[in-house]
Amino acid sequence: MEERLQKILARAGICSRRKAEEHIREGKVTIDGIVVTEMGIRVDPDVHHIEFEGKPLAVSEKKVYILLNKPKGYVTTMRDPQGRPIVTSLLKNMPERVFPVGRLDQDTEGALLLTNDGDFAQNILHPKFEINRTYLAIVAGRPSRELLLKLEQGIEIENRRTWPARIKVLTTKKRKTTVEIIIHEGRKRQVRKMFAAIGHTVLELKRTAYGRLKLGRLSSGKYRFLSKKEITLLFS
Ligand code: URA
Repeated sequence: MEERLQKILARAGICSRRKAEEHIREGKVTIDGIVVTEMGIRVDPDVHHIEFEGKPLAVSEKKVYILLNKPKGYVTTMRDPQGRPIVTSLLKNMPERVFPVGRLDQDTEGALLLTNDGDFAQNILHPKFEINRTYLAIVAGRPSRELLLKLEQGIEIENRRTWPARIKVLTTKKRKTTVEIIIHEGRKRQVRKMFAAIGHTVLELKRTAYGRLKLGRLSSGKYRFLSKKEITLLFS
């Protein structure tokens, strides 16, 4: 992310922002080897090499944004006292310390975001952004249109009403139904609890998208880094 050079110097622990202006004016700062004396210049420290008095700035860790297809059986905590496999063990040669954004149950698979950017994680989880989460659920039996409408309108679980959801029936078999459900909350085991509340057990659950960011063809256990465009897509 681009920031004013003064701010970057200050954040790197060099000096205050005001002092940074002096240093810049005195020609002590270079960007990609070129002295800058101009004030207010905006730079992305992840992209450009900044030096102060000939020494590289110890800028903060590069921000990374990852989309993982979480397999069933993995937990989204950073440590598990019960010794179950943790999602971050699926990431190979990762110098940054990333953490999962929100949770996905051990028995649920699909799209999981991981990052080392705390602000980004907070925004994804904040209800104000109303980021949709799309799930594919296989539920036992054949829930009636009326019951699904109840879920769509909001249903009381644990003394709190859920926000409206969107539900589409994809296939109906004798003993099970596949539905797509879109919600923008992230309450614990929410989809399972919503269907349980109308008397239909969720047999399989997969998150297929966050907002307009789709899991696509990413195979189970695989991950990829998100582009800046995809990150903005999440909030659009
Ligand atoms: N709803 C659930 O029931 N489980 C999840 O992991 C996510 C949403």
